[in-house]
Amino acid sequence: MNIAVFCSGNGSNFQAIVESVKKGTVDAKIALMISDSAEAFALSRAEKEGVKSALIERSDFSSKHEFEAAIIKELDQEDIELICLAGFMRIIGPVLLNKYPNKIINIHPALLPAFKGAHAIGDALRAKAKTTGVTVHFVDKEVDHGPIILQQAVGIKENDTEDSLAQRIHKIEHALYPKAIKLFVEGKIKIKGRKVKIV
Ligand code: GRF
Repeated sequence: MNIAVFCSGNGSNFQAIVESVKKGTVDAKIALMISDSAEAFALSRAEKEGVKSALIERSDFSSKHEFEAAIIKELDQEDIELICLAGFMRIIGPVLLNKYPNKIINIHPALLPAFKGAHAIGDALRAKAKTTGVTVHFVDKEVDHGPIILQQAVGIKENDTEDSLAQRIHKIEHALYPKAIKLFVEGKIKIKGRKVKIV
């Protein structure tokens, strides 16, 4: 199965996915990494790992529709069957969603539906939550909302800072995302409405 990973920044999850393929835990090919930002460190990671990458910037297109059409053009060249959002800071629109129904997944640094949005780690701290975590879910038209595939809790410590908590969350992400991808690749994820069944 050919997988594309979408990144806007550091790309540590992209790296974890690449490692899981290299180790043979995930039987797939990371055929493409798409970034919407020239500054994304994920681009350097892709180059180092010999993964094909494409930089597609929203500002080069007059509409989201055209931006997503350009992404699809790249995806089509590689026969992509699964898209993994890994720190991709854009809302996926109908053009991509219709082309890849139930084939786009995302990782979020909180236990959804709690702490949606781009500041989930800080929000959990500020809310004085005792537990937060990581969610891997299908992407639908609402942000951080689609059917949940896997979740893992992460305890919040009394003296946690955003950095210390982020470190523990990222460590869990780097194990949980490959685990979810492996399930998808092996055809073990069945989805019925909002319910995801692991078979
Ligand atoms: C991760 O915390 C992920 O949950 C969120 O964005 C962050 C991306 O980190 N969606 P990285 O770019 O994979 O290091």
